[in-house]
Amino acid sequence: METIATQGVKIPRLGLGTYRLAGSDAQAPVESAIALGYRHIDTAAMYDNEAGVGAGIAASGIKRSELFVTTKVWHDQLAPDAVERAFDTSLSKLKLDYVDLYLVHWPSPEMNMAATLEALLSLRERGLTRAIGVCNFNLPMIRRAVEEIGAPIACHQIEYHPFLSQAPMLAYLRSKGIPLTAYCPLAQGRAASDATLNQIGRKHGASAAQIALAWLMDQEGVIAIPKAGRPESQKANLAALDIKLDDADRTAIAALPKDQRFVRPSFGPDWEAKAA
Ligand SMILES: NC(=O)c1ccc[n+]([C@@H]2O[C@H](COP(=O)([O-])OP(=O)(O)OC[C@H]3O[C@@H](n4cnc5c(N)ncnc54)[C@H](OP(=O)(O)O)[C@@H]3O)[C@@H](O)[C@H]2O)c1
Repeated sequence: METIATQGVKIPRLGLGTYRLAGSDAQAPVESAIALGYRHIDTAAMYDNEAGVGAGIAASGIKRSELFVTTKVWHDQLAPDAVERAFDTSLSKLKLDYVDLYLVHWPSPEMNMAATLEALLSLRERGLTRAIGVCNFNLPMIRRAVEEIGAPIACHQIEYHPFLSQAPMLAYLRSKGIPLTAYCPLAQGRAASDATLNQIGRKHGASAAQIALAWLMDQEGVIAIPKAGRPESQKANLAALDIKLDDADRTAIAALPKDQRFVRPSFGPDWEAKAA
C-alpha cells in the first residue's frame, strides 16, 4: 500500500476507521481488515473500543512493526498530567508497547496548546508514540501549532469528503508538508447513495462509495480512514485505490455541494475563523 512520509513515519494512505464499533465489536473487523491487507487502524479513547482493537491486532498475528496504529486523547484530558494518564490507559487497553500516532481529538477553549503539544512530544521522546498530531483544529489553531509553537505535527485529521470543501486547509497543510487525514471520507455512508458518484461509478465498474474514496486518493497529501464493519465493504474500499478518475469525473465531483459538514459537536471550533 502507498504511504505518505511525514515526521519520520510512513502513514498508509488508506486506513480502517473504528468509530461506532464499540467494545469487543471492533475485534473481528480489525482482524478481517488486517487479513485483507489494511496496515493502518484508527481508534480513540472516546470510541471505547481500544481493547477490542488491540484484541483484533493481537489475533491477526501481524508483526507490530508492519502496522500503523493511531489513537487520540479526548478534549477534557488536555492538561499535561491528564494527557499522560489518558495515554497510559489507551496503551494498556490496546495492549501495545507504543502507538504510531497520538492525536489531540478535539481542541478545547481551556487548553494551553503549547503545554498540551509539549506533553504529546514528551511521549514521542520516550518512544511511546512515534509521531504526534491533531484533529479538528481550525486554520488559526493549526497555524499556531505549526508556526508559533513549532510542534512536529505529522498529520491533521479532519472531516473531508466530496460534499465538504477543505480547500484552504488543504492548501495550508500542503504548504507545510503536512498530510490531511480525511475522516468521514464516505460522509458517514451517505456517499454510497449519491447520484453523481453512482453515475461515475457505473463508468468505472465501481460503487459510489469507491468513487468517493478514489476522489480523496487522487489528491496529493490526503489519507483516508473509512470505517467498514463488514469484510465486503473493507475489501471494496481497498479496491478503490486502483480506480483512476479522469478530468470529467473530477469536474462532476467539483460541482457537488461542498458545504455539508456532518460532525458538528457543540464543543467544536469556529470553522469560519480566518487565520490572522
Ligand atoms: N477525529 C475525529 O474527530 C473523527 C470524527 C469522526 C470520525 N473519525 C474517524 O474516521 C472514521 C471514519 O468516519 P465515520 O466512521 O464517521 O464515517 P465514514 O467512514 O464516512 O462512513 C462509515 C459508514 O459507511 C459505510 N460503508 C463503509 N464502506 C462502505 C462501502 N464500500 N459501501 C457502502 N457503505 C460503506 C459503513 O457501513 P458498515 O460499517 O456497515 O460497513 C458506515 O456506515 C471513524 O470510524 C473514525 O475512526 C474521526
